[in-house]
Amino acid sequence: METLDIRPGSRVLEIGSGHGVALTLVAARLEDGQVTGVDRSGKMLTAAAKRNATAIEAGRVRLVHGSWPDLDEVLPGEGLFSHIFAIHVPLFRERPDDCNATIRRLLAPGGTLSVIAQPLADADVEPWVEATTTAMNAAGFHTLPPLISAHQPVRTACVRARVD
Ligand SMILES: C[S@@+](CC[C@H](N)C(=O)[O-])C[C@H]1O[C@@H](n2cnc3c(N)ncnc32)[C@H](O)[C@@H]1O
Repeated sequence: METLDIRPGSRVLEIGSGHGVALTLVAARLEDGQVTGVDRSGKMLTAAAKRNATAIEAGRVRLVHGSWPDLDEVLPGEGLFSHIFAIHVPLFRERPDDCNATIRRLLAPGGTLSVIAQPLADADVEPWVEATTTAMNAAGFHTLPPLISAHQPVRTACVRARVD
């Protein structure tokens, strides 16, 4: 969560929010902002809704059923997000150009895109960072230096890009 630099009024989008664990952590850092979780699985959204019921009622968390990168119908004319992040979702593996177009449409100028993972083995951290950095740069982003946590036994990595 520290890597995301969430501020009290941030407008955040998580792609592939799953059970909604990160949504809970982000919502706790918001005062008047909102975090939206998009997932293509209705089952995951149900679990996320249960976990985040209080924050949903307070307007801090919003859940949307949709499939990345085809979000035009579920986030139509959506205002801009200050942060977009994804944890354990292979965002750029398929259709990188569509991913780029969608992120540029949804991310505010100066906003950050963060792609995060904790690989199964610690030895896979650097290869994951390299592959993700390469994929993001190939998709037209200029990545920032990666952030790698000191978690044991397996570190967590975050590859970020800021969009002007
Ligand atoms: C491995 S889980 C990770 C969940 C959560 N981010 C976490 O780290 O606990 C991947 C999630 O992303 C969702 N997902 C994968 N590809 C997606 C896509 N193209 N559009 C929307 N959701 C997607 C899956 O339904 C699943 O809930």
